[in-house]
Amino acid sequence: MSEGHKVAFVTGASSGIGRATAEAFIRAGYATALVDRDEALGKQAAEEFGALGECMFIACDVADDAAVESAVAQTVSAYSRIDAAFNGAGIDGEPAMTADYSLEGWDRIMSINLRGVWLCVRHEIRQMLRQGGGAIVNCASSAGLVGVGGLSAYVASKHGVVGVTRSAALEYVRSNIRVNAVCPGMIDTPMWQRSISPEMTEQLLANDPIGRLGQPIEIAEAVLWLCSPAASFVNGQALAVDGGFTVQ
Ligand SMILES: NC(=O)c1ccc[n+]([C@@H]2O[C@H](COP(=O)([O-])OP(=O)(O)OC[C@H]3O[C@@H](n4cnc5c(N)ncnc54)[C@H](O)[C@@H]3O)[C@@H](O)[C@H]2O)c1
Repeated sequence: MSEGHKVAFVTGASSGIGRATAEAFIRAGYATALVDRDEALGKQAAEEFGALGECMFIACDVADDAAVESAVAQTVSAYSRIDAAFNGAGIDGEPAMTADYSLEGWDRIMSINLRGVWLCVRHEIRQMLRQGGGAIVNCASSAGLVGVGGLSAYVASKHGVVGVTRSAALEYVRSNIRVNAVCPGMIDTPMWQRSISPEMTEQLLANDPIGRLGQPIEIAEAVLWLCSPAASFVNGQALAVDGGFTVQ
């Protein structure tokens, strides 16, 4: 790698929002590590994006502390630093009423969406402290800001992501590390298409301010801005990118 390059570390990069964010970082000139547990899709994305700039795929389950530590180490070994990190890996889980939620389902969501984000943040911060700074964006959700019936585990995990973001932001800003969260609304990704039928989507959009799904690139643009020097005074925020959904 040439001197002076910027480096991005993106989890959930094999699909949807993470994939679009990895592509946006590469297009903006960042050498980018695409981190995901889905090797087939991740390798395919890295191969496609290789034409745009420097990137590589790293297989990693974000719920596994040693795997996250290794993914950060592999990125630093290849690209020498991590300037920007987007922690996008996440799952939605089965919908169920709060009293009926299964213990396994609850623990699975928490281990990936909340513990996984914390594990990524802590290894990213350790590296950023060594190199003298950086910027982190965690992927929360509108469900990190308001309740949603039938999704209490997901909602709790995403509120937790906002909490980790705020605490870490207070702890490390004087070490030149900013930590923010992005809170996407309803975004047209494979996760959305798997979970929500076209009929349900139509019903949800009928009562939505902007009346359309967001595109993954619209989240990626917010993440790139939050990681850029243009956002140098923005810290600890949970930025809703949701067409107005959470201000109704
Ligand atoms: N799509 C939406 O409407 C929406 C709205 C708000 C927030 N979000 C959040 O955005 C993020 C991305 O969602 P998406 O819609 O792009 O979903 P997606 O399913 O298209 O992509 C998620 C990616 O995360 C990866 N992943 C899941 N668990 C992992 C693990 N344990 N380790 C490593 N990688 C893992 C998957 O392999 C996949 O590539 C998630 O955190 C999700 O909760 C999505």
